[in-house]
Amino acid sequence: MPRPFPHRHLLGIDPLSAEDILFLLDEAEPWIDFGRQARKEDRRLAGLTQFNLFFENSTRTLFSFEVAGKRLGAQVANFHPGGSSVRKGESLIDTALTLNAMRPDVMVVRHNESGAPQQVAEVAGCPVVNGGDGTNEHPTQALLDALTMRRRKGRIEGLTVAICGDIRHSRVAGSNRKLLPKLGAEVRLVGPPALLPDDAGGAATFTDLDEGIKDADVVMMLRIQRERMEESVSGTLADFHARYGLTYARLDRAAPDALVMHPGPMNRGVEIEGALADDPDRSAILDQVENGVAVRMAVLDVLTRARRE
Ligand code: NCD
Repeated sequence: MPRPFPHRHLLGIDPLSAEDILFLLDEAEPWIDFGRQARKEDRRLAGLTQFNLFFENSTRTLFSFEVAGKRLGAQVANFHPGGSSVRKGESLIDTALTLNAMRPDVMVVRHNESGAPQQVAEVAGCPVVNGGDGTNEHPTQALLDALTMRRRKGRIEGLTVAICGDIRHSRVAGSNRKLLPKLGAEVRLVGPPALLPDDAGGAATFTDLDEGIKDADVVMMLRIQRERMEESVSGTLADFHARYGLTYARLDRAAPDALVMHPGPMNRGVEIEGALADDPDRSAILDQVENGVAVRMAVLDVLTRARRE
């Protein structure tokens, strides 16, 4: 019998122990090979209904949750809020109550407000997965990033991971900076002063990219998230690239076999040189996408186990 996962929802990294995280990574691992077969069909979620509530745009996350659910046999329905008619507060809760009355067995929620999936979870009769909330967290992204590091570097413990770029507005950074130290990795946050968080939560911060990535085992680049900024960042994108863009030349300062990661969507020529992003020996960007489906299959499977038994 697999170890029970003692959580009803996956809303953020804080409640997870190192054992919980490793359990999910181990559960995800076999789904990677499974995904490489011609027939990708497992029936363990057959008859269950999965709702994806994406109140914000998404390519990778929405699609990969949909593919993950379908490969497990779930009936997947995507709710499209359409334009700006649905916002926060009551209308979010009303929407959640309405959809919940259709009796889904699991819901995945992405929203531009931090805390929205938590609000949905309070009224939901089923497990809720946070698919990214505002500038807060994106737990399945951190899990897939950890799985990618473990597979490419052979371990997580003892790695130095430099997370670079717009940390302040990044929920990817928000979840990674919580998850990685739980598994024994050291996290550095690297970016312009205006894009570093007020509270680095114990991580070392750097405003100089060359210094921040020095001897790092993993260099994780993030895009500038203008849509989440209250004030615009000064300077042009070319200036940003000159100071904070990752290039082959710059990567020489990191550990000799340093791995480059990016959650996407990436802006080639801004935070990362296109050729470097495309280099499969240095970049794990497409591994992250592949591993994302496996992680989401594991999460959907594990969270619905109690319901299925
Ligand atoms: C990110 C997100 O939406 O949080 N993308 C993703 O899910 N892979 C990062 C971003 O928007 O820059």
